[in-house]
Amino acid sequence: MKYRCLLLLLLLHGLAVGAVDADSLLSQLTHKEKVRLVIGGGWGSLFSGFNIPFCGKQKVPGAAGVTHAVKRLGIPSVVMADGPAGVRIKPIQKKDGRKQTAYATAFPVGCCLASSWDTALLEEVGAAIGDEASAYGIDIILSPGMNLMRSPLCGRNYEYYSEDPLLTGKLAAAMVRGIQSMGVGTSVKHFACNNQETGRMHNDSRVDSATLFSLYLRPFEIAIRESAPWTVMSSYNLLNGERTQESRWLLTEVLRHRWHYRGLVMTDWTFRRNTRRQIAAGNDLMMPGDALQRRQLRRAFRKPENGENMLDTCARRVLQLVLKTRTARGLQATGEPHLKEHAQLARRAAAESFVLLHNEGGALPFTPEARVALFGASSYDLVAGGTGSGHVNAAYKINLSDALPHCVGARLQAEYRRWAQGNTHRNKAAGFGFMQKFLGRGALKEMPLKPKWIREALDSADIALVTVGRQAGEGRDRTPSDFELTREERDMLQQVSQEARMRGIKTVAVLNVSGAIETASWRHLVDAVLLIWCPGQEGGAAAVDVLTGAVNPSGRLTMTWPECLEDLPSTRHFGDERVTLYAERDSVGYRAYIGTKRRPAYAFGHGCSYSTFREELLEDRQIAVTNTGSRPGRHVVMWWKNGVLTGFAKTRLLAPGECQVLGDEQTAVAIGKEAEIVSERVVVDAAPVAVNEGADQ
Ligand code: BGC
Repeated sequence: MKYRCLLLLLLLHGLAVGAVDADSLLSQLTHKEKVRLVIGGGWGSLFSGFNIPFCGKQKVPGAAGVTHAVKRLGIPSVVMADGPAGVRIKPIQKKDGRKQTAYATAFPVGCCLASSWDTALLEEVGAAIGDEASAYGIDIILSPGMNLMRSPLCGRNYEYYSEDPLLTGKLAAAMVRGIQSMGVGTSVKHFACNNQETGRMHNDSRVDSATLFSLYLRPFEIAIRESAPWTVMSSYNLLNGERTQESRWLLTEVLRHRWHYRGLVMTDWTFRRNTRRQIAAGNDLMMPGDALQRRQLRRAFRKPENGENMLDTCARRVLQLVLKTRTARGLQATGEPHLKEHAQLARRAAAESFVLLHNEGGALPFTPEARVALFGASSYDLVAGGTGSGHVNAAYKINLSDALPHCVGARLQAEYRRWAQGNTHRNKAAGFGFMQKFLGRGALKEMPLKPKWIREALDSADIALVTVGRQAGEGRDRTPSDFELTREERDMLQQVSQEARMRGIKTVAVLNVSGAIETASWRHLVDAVLLIWCPGQEGGAAAVDVLTGAVNPSGRLTMTWPECLEDLPSTRHFGDERVTLYAERDSVGYRAYIGTKRRPAYAFGHGCSYSTFREELLEDRQIAVTNTGSRPGRHVVMWWKNGVLTGFAKTRLLAPGECQVLGDEQTAVAIGKEAEIVSERVVVDAAPVAVNEGADQ
């Protein structure tokens, strides 16, 4: 009794971490309460804005889920929110009967940030996301998304970092360190082999063990060993015939026994489940959870011989997680994150991440005074991010048309603005009702151009700028036609570049895309190509920083841009509904080109600068980088072995003539003995297996 009073007292001031430990709390929980702890509550982000009875009253509207409180013992409910490009909550909330805004900063999406190759930058962005989460009362951010980019067509690639496991692992570890430095937890996801959206709830990724360890599990291993994420999210898909959420081999033997992971495993948000099997496999927290699942579990684990110990293990891990949180420490949500500073950071991070794909005859940068004829629908309606759980409700976004100081061609601009207002010109998101809301309103299709609009604009311009836009997101993959340009986009590039050339004007293409697109057939039409990805809310301003030379581009591709999709062997087995054979083994991305004569349109690691750099190899694999150009700039150094990336580092901003020595010990890999592990798992190949539906409800 005395102890209970003490606990209640502690709750009033927050649970004092260290003063209460998980085991003493666990010893006081009833069977029912343990079940209550391991079954979460959620669907908040999906149904945000709708009144769904089983969601209950949301602590933070729009957050993805919660753990349940045990009030009797002062155990609080903790809140989880997406996601990878910033905090995903409902922007307009009600507090004390009054409406208040709760916008978050939309940072550049994962594939954009990753192109910076700058772990310090990812850590900084992570800390800012952590700060916003904390200010809004969120305890765990469901990020980073760190599946490998097996194919350019995966709909969620925009959330992910790279086709290379080392780079992915290092960048994800940096993001985790950043977020967790603010006392907010993370969830590295989606563990594992969730490399496509097609059939994501039932698709079976069939991967041989060598490939599994060297490519698909390696990033997770690196992140776990180097950043100790508070949680790991088990994915929706199956792996070699078994649901990852039900795989004891994956969630316990590999994750905990081999990699010594000490945190909590939660399931990705699913209705299709066998809770008993999920728990037996090593999931501690079942998300999003519902009352029926609780009832089933209470029955299933009623007798200790039926698994009370397993339930204890899960409940203990949930308690350990809860005790670490800001909520348990009694921190109040201020509702006031540092949005102004974070907007500056979002702009800097975007500009540092853009990739200058080519720059013929120094077409870029142009001067801030240059008069720009601006083409392309997304110049006027930037694709700031992706759709689904990686979307962020930002207060605003800056379009290129807002940020460029001197746009010419009044008629052209008016036509584009009219086009951008019409909903009929948008690529419709799949689904209906709440699904459409979840998937977003879709990117603008390209506007067919009248020749006289082009001529009028170019007559008074110094430069032609043409933006190509693409948006992708959760729940569906890109199609091969999304990789290709549309007829309207092709016509636009052809007509504009031809008219511009006749006037002696350079044409610059800006790619505002969520993944690789086809470039081989049209890039000769333009003088420069700047890849800005989905750059977040400050995207237009950041793009102008690079276009006008205020920032020297230093981003590099973290994935291959193939000439055509068929050049990547993964294309043959991508997007199958039931079973996906990873028959290409480790021939993923740039690895598929090793020892062949084929060349990609733009290679992994490619990126130009307005400056030039010299690399000299010193002893101990150190490299001295000298800026040999006339502008300050940054340079990325990569170490390779047998055609595979083994290390990377980025210089600080080097003045012309300045030199910096970099060593690859900065990226030394803390990794287990893969060879030993590889031999353990049966190699699965092409033979189809019956898909284990495994759902008990
Ligand atoms: C996504 C996760 C996300 C979760 C919660 C799922 O549909 O796959 O990435 O964190 O929803 O919103």
